[in-house]
Amino acid sequence: MSDSPGTDRDSAGNRDADQIDNTITEVIDTLKHQPGALLPILHGIQARLGYVPAAAVPAIARALKQTRAEIHGVISFYHDFRERPPGRHLLRLCRAEACQARGAGVLEAHVKQVLGLDYHQTTADGEFSLEPVYCLGNCACGPSLRIDNHSGSSILGRVDAERFDQLVEALTRVAVEVR
Ligand code: FES
Repeated sequence: MSDSPGTDRDSAGNRDADQIDNTITEVIDTLKHQPGALLPILHGIQARLGYVPAAAVPAIARALKQTRAEIHGVISFYHDFRERPPGRHLLRLCRAEACQARGAGVLEAHVKQVLGLDYHQTTADGEFSLEPVYCLGNCACGPSLRIDNHSGSSILGRVDAERFDQLVEALTRVAVEVR
C-alpha cells in the first residue's frame, strides 16, 4: 500500500493539493526500495514540483521508517532543497572561479541589491528567486546567469549590472502582460 502524504498543506500556488500529494506518493513509491533512498526521493520530488512541500516529510518518514526530524534535518542541511515554491523566475548566479575572475562578485552584489534578496530567497511578489550555482559550463563568457521559468531554461553570458537590470525589466514586463 502507498504511503499517503497526509493532510498537511503548503501554499501551493495554482497547483492542486491532491496533485501534489499524488506526485509525492509516486516518487516515494518509485524510489523507496533503493539503497540510500532519501536523497533520490527528495531530488525526485523537487524535480517534479519545484520544491519539497512540508506534506512530503511525514510521507517520506513513514516510507523509510525514519523520524520526521531526520527527514527535515536532511532537507535543511542541503541548501539545494527548497521548502517553498520558487519564484516565477528562478535566477541561478554562477559563483565559481572563472566567473568570479570576470566580475561575478560585483554582479552578485548588484543582483542582491536590486532584488532585495539573499541566496535561497524569493521576492515578496513571487517573481524572482535567487540561488547560487557553481559553474554553468559557460566559463569563457562569464559572469553567467541561468534563468528557469515558464519559457524553459536559458543561460546568459557576460552579464553585468546594466544587462541584469534590462533583464529584470523585461521579465517583469512579460509577467505583467501575461496576467
Ligand atoms: S565558472 Fe561560471 S560558468 Fe563556469
